[in-house]
Amino acid sequence: MPRTLITSAIPYINGIKHLGNLIGSQLPADLYARYRRAQGDEVLFLCATDEHGTPAELAAAKAGEPVADYCARMWAVQKDLADGFRLSFDHFGRSSSPQNHALTQHFAGRLDANGYIEERTERQVYSRADGRFLPDRYVEGTCPNCGYDRARGDQCENCTKQLDPTDLIDPRSAISGSTDLQVRDTKHLHLLQSKLRGELGDWIDAQDQWPVLTTSIAKKWLHDGDGLQDRGITRDLDWGIPVRRGPDPWPGMEGKVFYVWFDAPIEYIACAGEWAEANGLGEANWRRWWRTDEGADDVRYVQFMGKDNVPFHTLSFPATLIGSGEPWKRVDYLKSFNYLNYDGGQFSTSQGRGVFMDQALSILPADYWRWWLLSHCPESGDAEFTWDGFQAGVNKDLADVLGNFVSRVTKFCRAKFGESVPEGGEWGDAERALVDRLQGATAAYVRHMDAIEIRKAAAELRAIWVAGNEYLQAAAPWTTFKTDPQAAAMQIRLALNLVPFYAALSAPFVPDAARAMAGAMRLDATPWPDDVAGALTALPPGHAFDVPDVLFAKITDDQRAEWQDRFAGTRS
Ligand code: 2FM
Ligand code: ZN
Repeated sequence: MPRTLITSAIPYINGIKHLGNLIGSQLPADLYARYRRAQGDEVLFLCATDEHGTPAELAAAKAGEPVADYCARMWAVQKDLADGFRLSFDHFGRSSSPQNHALTQHFAGRLDANGYIEERTERQVYSRADGRFLPDRYVEGTCPNCGYDRARGDQCENCTKQLDPTDLIDPRSAISGSTDLQVRDTKHLHLLQSKLRGELGDWIDAQDQWPVLTTSIAKKWLHDGDGLQDRGITRDLDWGIPVRRGPDPWPGMEGKVFYVWFDAPIEYIACAGEWAEANGLGEANWRRWWRTDEGADDVRYVQFMGKDNVPFHTLSFPATLIGSGEPWKRVDYLKSFNYLNYDGGQFSTSQGRGVFMDQALSILPADYWRWWLLSHCPESGDAEFTWDGFQAGVNKDLADVLGNFVSRVTKFCRAKFGESVPEGGEWGDAERALVDRLQGATAAYVRHMDAIEIRKAAAELRAIWVAGNEYLQAAAPWTTFKTDPQAAAMQIRLALNLVPFYAALSAPFVPDAARAMAGAMRLDATPWPDDVAGALTALPPGHAFDVPDVLFAKITDDQRAEWQDRFAGTRS
């Protein structure tokens, strides 16, 4: 059985994620995980919260909570929302887990033993007003690269350049706003990534099947040199993974923690350990996903993330894995996304702009969001969420096409033949033509899903739904019934068989609707329809069904206007 390991970039713990974050990694990862499972793969789909670093500390301080309590609370909130969106993680872990502590310290020890770590005295921003060093996001200022005036000390949100706090122009403390800042000496561990330039370059060059967005970012950072500068991997913070050399203390590093971007990707591995523990499985069970010497050489590993995360996953994390000298599994395919914008501007967590996951679920079920977001995902360029576009997409695709088809067919059958599949005669030309058309479209859909071309897959799925509607419209069993009830019965038999067929193909996109469709046909499961003709004869005459409740209600103009208004401002 093929094995597929799937990870989504792990969301920062600081607050509820917006729809731009969701479509930037977790949701497409879920689509693919559901698809691979439907294809019969053994799948391990992992995600977690990214709990360390300044985002967590700043958010906890704002909430007036100890940071550990804040993280535990927000993990539960994020887990609940992930469940609400039907994200089918095999485990939703925490980067603050004991497994990640041990593994992060292990990697640091290995990197040190192999000569990839150097202690350096460096100059760091210190705030006299706050009485502390201000690493990373504790400093804000103007980006030296693009001039964006709210750049953070670790990375510019606008141009994605990785920064050092001392790079910022007109820096200020994110805690107090103070500009009374000094630069003071402090000792930190540096990862000598530059020593791995050759090996990383060869590996990236070999990935000619990766999406262009991924390889172009990876190569830019590799060749500009920026991404492969040696990087500080420790910080003067309280909250985080204490700096140790494996299980041993690291003299001189007392009171310091690892940098969040050092431990976050290691959580992908640690999360598999958390998964094993949570399921009462032994060590070997997770190691067979991650150690190529213990079975992971036949795993296909696919990562999902927003484009701002690509440098860390193509350079820094692989540098950690290679530098360890141990046989850890490396990513096989890295799918990255552009940004989703919101109604003429950017989604923004810090400014509370856009629609957040909890708000979305409070107004509509998950499937409405899943369909629209996935069918408009920012694959080839940035995409934009507008309420008009959302209303149009949901009403047209889900209500008018898929929902309407299921409703018409089941209701017509109930009225004319009762609530079981009617007998009727043999298929004619129209039916055989539909099967041919669906066979071709299903093959195209599978090709796009295999290639993780999500918009193309969504368009093909929509075309598959449309084909059923067009068949029904042309066959017009409501007319046929008047002159030839036998032919009408055959047409409806085929149309009813399209319901579980659609359920199977649509489940990765709209899992709840797919379950409702299968349930209405009184089926526990809908296997993947490799053979379309076979799938469309699966429900035999006499098979009982129920007319389902409305699958998708239309979004009214009043609702659209109300939501547009409600979500126009910023959230505090
Ligand atoms: O950009 C982000 O949301 C980060 N928390 C992603 C981390 S992904 C990985 F390194 F774990
Ligand atoms: Zn910038």
